[in-house]
Amino acid sequence: MLLKLILSALLIVLSFVGSYTMFEIFGRQERRKNMETLKKIHRINGRVFFLLFLIGAVACIYILSQTKAELTARTTLHAFSAVAIFLLFSLKIVFIKFYRQFYSYAKLLGILVVLLTFNLLAFSTGYSLVTGMGDRNETKQTQQLQLVAKSKEGSVERGKKLFTELCSSCHYTDKKDFKRAAPGLKGIFAEKNLPVSKKPVNTENIILQIKKPYKYMPSFNDLTDEQLADLIAYMKTL
Ligand code: HEC
Repeated sequence: MLLKLILSALLIVLSFVGSYTMFEIFGRQERRKNMETLKKIHRINGRVFFLLFLIGAVACIYILSQTKAELTARTTLHAFSAVAIFLLFSLKIVFIKFYRQFYSYAKLLGILVVLLTFNLLAFSTGYSLVTGMGDRNETKQTQQLQLVAKSKEGSVERGKKLFTELCSSCHYTDKKDFKRAAPGLKGIFAEKNLPVSKKPVNTENIILQIKKPYKYMPSFNDLTDEQLADLIAYMKTL
């Protein structure tokens, strides 16, 4: 979170410096004496901006590849801005370096990059800052999980049926061997730690695994609290 904040602040500052130098270079009626320095700052600034932007993008793509989650509307807008920034920035460089006839468009593209940077950050860091999300969301989620965990005892019978339907294709229940990267769940509740994530074994963590799996397991987000309780009840008998 802190890293994100620092990266965002840097990108904002850099885009400000970028547009300020650009305005100073092209916007003034009288010619500035220190044009060359301004241009130099603008160029270096642009490179640092692009580098930081790429680092952020690679980090995001990596996280995305790990979670495999469906994009929310907010992340979609964030990703859209990011791709647009990348394309506009590349186009701007191409115009400046190769297709000089389009040079005048480069200024407009530069402004668009700055605006989209604001957009980009508004949908990530800005949002977290305004809602104070991070922590609050997590505590809410654990509370919810605890609620599910405490709610009535599930039925072993229904749990077994559900498990056969949804989980048996990947998980053994009579041994601890792995089957297609999925651990056998025999005696799961007698263990101290979960087999793959090594989180402590408890109802909350298992429900978390079912709803928001640790890695490759598909998510079963639409199970009702009752179905979850049934599954847990059955898994306790393994
Ligand atoms: C398509 C295969 C697949 C299906 C179906 C599946 N799982 Fe998994 N499961 C995995 C894999 C792979 C892992 C290893 C951890 C990971 O990748 O998330 C895993 C891990 C687990 C773990 C251990 C988590 C840990 O932290 O070590 C539990 C508990 C579990 N699954 C329960 C279930 C339940 C309950 C169902 C049915 C609702 C189910 N799984 C359905 C593939 C599957």
